[in-house]
Amino acid sequence: MYFQRLPLVGFLTTALGLSWNTSSSSASSPTITSPTPNECPTGPALPTNPHLSNGLALTPPMGWSSWNQFGDQIDEILIRDTIQTMASNGLKDAGYVFVNLDDGWQRYKGNRSANPLEADPVKFPSGIKALADFAHAHGFKLGIYSGPGQSTCAGYTGSEGHEDEDAAMFASWGIDHLKYDSCCSHEHAPKSEVQKIVLKMSKALLAQSHPIVYHACHCGWADIWEWAADEGANQWRIGQDISDEFNYPGNREKYYFDVLDMLDRGNELVKYSGPGHWNDYDMLIVGLNGNSSQLVGTGASNIEYRTHFSMWAMVASPLLIGSDVRTLDTYSLQTLTNKEVIEVSQDPLGNAAETVGVGEEAGGDLQVYAKEMLDGSYAVALLNRGSFTAEMSISPRRDLTMPWDQYRLRDLWKHKEGTYDVPYTTEVMPHEAKVLRLWQVQANASMCFFQ
Ligand SMILES: *[C@@H]1O[C@H](CO)[C@@H](O)[C@H](O)[C@H]1NC(C)=O
Ligand SMILES: *[C@@H]1O[C@H](CO)[C@@H](O)[C@H](O)[C@H]1NC(C)=O
Ligand SMILES: *[C@@H]1O[C@H](CO)[C@@H](O)[C@H](O)[C@H]1NC(C)=O
Repeated sequence: MYFQRLPLVGFLTTALGLSWNTSSSSASSPTITSPTPNECPTGPALPTNPHLSNGLALTPPMGWSSWNQFGDQIDEILIRDTIQTMASNGLKDAGYVFVNLDDGWQRYKGNRSANPLEADPVKFPSGIKALADFAHAHGFKLGIYSGPGQSTCAGYTGSEGHEDEDAAMFASWGIDHLKYDSCCSHEHAPKSEVQKIVLKMSKALLAQSHPIVYHACHCGWADIWEWAADEGANQWRIGQDISDEFNYPGNREKYYFDVLDMLDRGNELVKYSGPGHWNDYDMLIVGLNGNSSQLVGTGASNIEYRTHFSMWAMVASPLLIGSDVRTLDTYSLQTLTNKEVIEVSQDPLGNAAETVGVGEEAGGDLQVYAKEMLDGSYAVALLNRGSFTAEMSISPRRDLTMPWDQYRLRDLWKHKEGTYDVPYTTEVMPHEAKVLRLWQVQANASMCFFQ
């Protein structure tokens, strides 16, 4: 089933904004040019270069990655424990199936020209294939890490000059995901060179019979979003590493980006994301609580972590948990397993939410993000970036240019819904995001059939 994507572009041209009183009605909304009523949503866009498409990651990959919490201090006991925990605490049922080894699984430090690429026999005495078998037996997929240089970011042997050989080795182990990290070896390389190295591993992976999701990680440099999908990458980071921080302007433009900074970077890049090729806002920080061995930051509040998770779902970023799942507190687990929010992330249409309104009265602190879903509904986030509780509202007619006289609205965190014919208004706490889903209510509901 191939469809053309319906862009949200037109929504930005209408004078949009927030309603500041609860009594505003749809009759006072600005006149807008309406799209054809009952227009069926279109389906996911095709990857742009079918020759280099592996057909994988049609929705944003979900799982866990070892780096944020553990750095290179990983071993097979930790990974098995993680798999068993995720199988029993609801994470697997919620869709988190990738378990990704980041840097530090390798035996040798130093240049590849001097050392082979092998698993560390002390950390992984049973070998990576046995670990992949274990993951598969429990319904998971196993990811691994390498890079295109002589050595990786943590100083272990890289894949330079051995790309085909390494891809074949990963495939023979049953590896399902590769993070191929050029941030350290090619930080100052010109775009053309980065393109070459991304393409080289892409072709090496495509030559294998075992399918491997391909993360081309280049820290948001070399305009990678513009070209990585054409070279077969399924995801690419839009920025440098995330910090364990919701908002820390003083720390920006150093190496680490906080949650709001990452969101702002993504706003310009929405059009590059879609089924099979995703903007990656970096691994989740939910539950790190300032205890990461790798990231700067003193942690965020429960509400802030929940907002971060909600927004990553709205913008269709991969959702890779970065904390220790064995010690996750109940609130974090509830945050990560909200199936209604995950449905927003995993919608087959693959849209990434865009900002459709900014409250100027609040200095841009109040933002409305929206995206169309495959069933014709809209997912909406009312994000309060400011320090004071604010009243925010959403109107399908005013904010989404959908001429819906009546709509059903569900709060995906409260799990409550109602039917409305005026703008919906609610209080949003500082650093909170209300995540809502809106459906048109029609006397004569029309069905959408896809060929
Ligand atoms: C390792 O490789 C780099 C090039 O990537 C080179 O500059 C360096 O001299 C090499 N080190 C050793 C010990 O061979
Ligand atoms: C912090 O993380 C380490 C592992 O990196 C763990 O041993 C320790 O228990 C954690 N502390 C808290 C308070 O979560
Ligand atoms: C559809 O709408 C028409 C009026 O527009 C009404 O007469 C009819 O009963 C409606 N049908 C249903 C099934 O609601």
